[in-house]
Amino acid sequence: MSGESGAEGPKSGAGPETGAPVPGGRLEGKRVVLVNGARRKRNTYGLLRETAAFLEAEGALVEPLDLHAYAIGECLGCERCVRGAACPLRDDAEALMSRISSADGVVLASPVYMGAVTGRMKLFIDRTAAWFHRPVLVGKPSLVVATTAGSALSSTLAYLEGVAVQWGAVPAGRIGRTAQRLGERVSWREVARFIAALASPRERLSPGFGALMTYQVQRVLAEKVLENDRLHWREQGWADRTYYFDCRIGPAKRLAAGAFHALLSRRVEKTPEADLAGE
Ligand SMILES: Cc1cc2nc3c(=O)[nH]c(=O)nc-3n(C[C@H](O)[C@H](O)[C@H](O)COP(=O)(O)O)c2cc1C
Repeated sequence: MSGESGAEGPKSGAGPETGAPVPGGRLEGKRVVLVNGARRKRNTYGLLRETAAFLEAEGALVEPLDLHAYAIGECLGCERCVRGAACPLRDDAEALMSRISSADGVVLASPVYMGAVTGRMKLFIDRTAAWFHRPVLVGKPSLVVATTAGSALSSTLAYLEGVAVQWGAVPAGRIGRTAQRLGERVSWREVARFIAALASPRERLSPGFGALMTYQVQRVLAEKVLENDRLHWREQGWADRTYYFDCRIGPAKRLAAGAFHALLSRRVEKTPEADLAGE
């Protein structure tokens, strides 16, 4: 591992195999959750372990969340969570969500199953519908990981990244392997952006085009569709901004985000609340 890390990587001998954070690193005090949608502890898990070693070598506390180890029921489709009420299902999803929302960064990982994420990963993502409206990972970076025999790698990575963005995260890397490249270990280059983002103050982050546009969609939904979200967005100080907080956004992106928001605002009608649940 140390041979691949390069000059700026973790110091050689810094604890990849120990599973414990190395004190004094620039990620000391940071907690990163690794959300794993794979049942087997094989390909995807292997990449997660190697990613974890880099994080631990920088001092981060890494918390694996193997979704198969938890009871996660299927979403009932009632949309109560979206309206700000508690989910009626009593299982482990809420505890998992609070571990994710309180972390400093998130890694989302899944093998490709039938061209997409595993059922277990999707089951969990469905349970986080409220986060698409009231994001909880604002200002925190995300890294996505996927493995596949051959197909759908980039679409699966893009899907996982899109989910993290809708949870409010700033995307900071993708790690993917097809069967031919499975032997290739995770490199420092693949985790460097995520580690830098975890170590930086959020004002130095730079949300990409996709994250900025997703923000405009969420903002218009909060303005026009759900009363509860409107209040939340105002309380959080998100309502009249280009992005959730001040950070590095170039003039072209700022202009595009403003134009997209204006267009969406004109297109989306104010929706009566009752229509949402088909009442
Ligand atoms: C049910 C199932 C569905 C799969 N679907 C695909 C697929 O659509 N495309 C593909 O290239 N590989 C597919 N694979 C192969 C896995 O994505 C690949 O072996 C992956 O690396 C397994 O990761 P794991 O070791 O973490 O379980 C599938 C495997 C299984 C078991």
